[in-house]
Amino acid sequence: MNDARLDDHCGGYDARRFVAEFYDDIPMYARRPDAPFYLDLAKKASGPILELGCGTGRLLIAIARAGFSIDGIDLSDSMLARCESKLRDEPPAVREHATIRKADMTAFDLGKQYALCIAPFRCFAHLIGVEEQLACLAAVRRHLRPGGTFVLDLFNPDPARMHDSAFTEEAVEFDGLNLSDGRVLARSSRIAAFHPAAQYNDTELIYHVTHPDGRTERLVHSFPTRLLFRYEVEHLLARQGFAIRECFGDYDRSPYGDRSPEMIVVAEKS
Ligand SMILES: C[S@@+](CC[C@H](N)C(=O)[O-])C[C@H]1O[C@@H](n2cnc3c(N)ncnc32)[C@H](O)[C@@H]1O
Repeated sequence: MNDARLDDHCGGYDARRFVAEFYDDIPMYARRPDAPFYLDLAKKASGPILELGCGTGRLLIAIARAGFSIDGIDLSDSMLARCESKLRDEPPAVREHATIRKADMTAFDLGKQYALCIAPFRCFAHLIGVEEQLACLAAVRRHLRPGGTFVLDLFNPDPARMHDSAFTEEAVEFDGLNLSDGRVLARSSRIAAFHPAAQYNDTELIYHVTHPDGRTERLVHSFPTRLLFRYEVEHLLARQGFAIRECFGDYDRSPYGDRSPEMIVVAEKS
């Protein structure tokens, strides 16, 4: 099988352009319950906000609509093009509050400092090596005002997902989704390979498209996913000059625990 790490440098989002095309239709993404959490953080931030891996603007546009100034960076041309087109449909007051730019979260220089930087929806898990992770955190630190907040939103790593062959079977996530152009979409997912010593998996998100003429396509978005553990994240942050303030297990701010679906670390530039 191809090495998913070679697909591109942003989690396969550009090597597989259908990802940006379908992204906003994916029910689990559209219903993702993280927006109130981020809007609350935006309300408490006394200054501009930076989003790493802003993608199609799912959160960036919600935050700008609420009247907060936010800049987003992403490395994928296709995700950014989608975001730009959605921003064009927004009223001028919203557009004034949001800017997007192509940049790598491991090496960016926006010439500006922020009160809050967010890394939502597990985008940091696209960084596989420790050097990339440290470079990202150093760039975030440079872009934060003194005392600024950084929110790192990851999934709670399940050790079974580092070895259990049950996860190599394709599992249906949804099916029968009618797209506006008449196509019908289904998606399944699986882990194609485990790399436990390097703490990453080759993940596959498999899109099954049925066209109005009955033709079918199987499109695979393959990318490596880093599994990060709580104290590893805390050590990485401490190494780059952050103080850990909180660790939540979900967007309702419940404490992080064994069965938490998420691992959301809130840190402060110290
Ligand atoms: C799961 S999507 C999240 C998009 C958006 N934040 C959301 O919550 O819907 C992850 C995003 O991270 C971006 N990404 C991955 N690696 C990146 C990198 N090195 N620099 C910038 N963006 C990156 C991808 O292009 C993708 O848009």
